[in-house]
Amino acid sequence: MCLRVFCASILGMHVTRFQFNEYELLAVPVLHDNFVYLVCRGNEAVLIDAGEAKPVFKVLEENDLRLQKLLITHTHPDHIGGCQKIQDRLSVQSISPAVESGEFSMLGTVCRSISTPGHVAVHKVYYFPELNVLFAGDTIINGGCGRLLGGTPKQFFDSLQLIKQLSDKTRIFGGHDYLVANMEFALSTEPDNEDAKARLNLYRTDPSAAIFATLGEEKKTNPFLRVATAEKFAALRRRKDCF
Ligand SMILES: [Fe+2]
Repeated sequence: MCLRVFCASILGMHVTRFQFNEYELLAVPVLHDNFVYLVCRGNEAVLIDAGEAKPVFKVLEENDLRLQKLLITHTHPDHIGGCQKIQDRLSVQSISPAVESGEFSMLGTVCRSISTPGHVAVHKVYYFPELNVLFAGDTIINGGCGRLLGGTPKQFFDSLQLIKQLSDKTRIFGGHDYLVANMEFALSTEPDNEDAKARLNLYRTDPSAAIFATLGEEKKTNPFLRVATAEKFAALRRRKDCF
């Protein structure tokens, strides 16, 4: 069950809030076009990725939140740049993407880490099955996927097939706002894809609704989820790299 209670363009550096029963999810824009996320219950919160510390401290303070844990999808600087400062100030434990996949209990719910190599050789996504949300890092980024910067095309393709097995209602929270470039690329591969056209148009009036789509919507609009083989994935990724 997801209810979006507030949204605003990330250009204004606003936080987007989602309500999932007694849980609240805050999408916090950091750096140029990254997101970090807070999952909150009451005054307790866990943070997914930490590209920058200052906006995180601000949101924690403004919302009177106590950080319990920090989950890292992968170790690119725009995902961990604020880690040290956050850990130093708040003495919070982090879960590295190098930790073996598993199930954690946090905030009274279950979080599963799933290994999704491809963008890099070591990458985790974090799935909260009771909330129907997936924090996808740079594995799925609103209508696209990350570049191949350490993993193989076969690994990346297999990781995407793994995610595709989750419920279509799963809402996907990726590491960036690349929506416009991704939908323009999607339409270059499938000019008649009406769902991609609608998603691009939606971005102009309600950017957060377009960015934070469900897996079902991703399957209709994300070309990297629509290829049938690792070879086709590799060719598509090469084409996007030059787009
Ligand atoms: Fe990355």
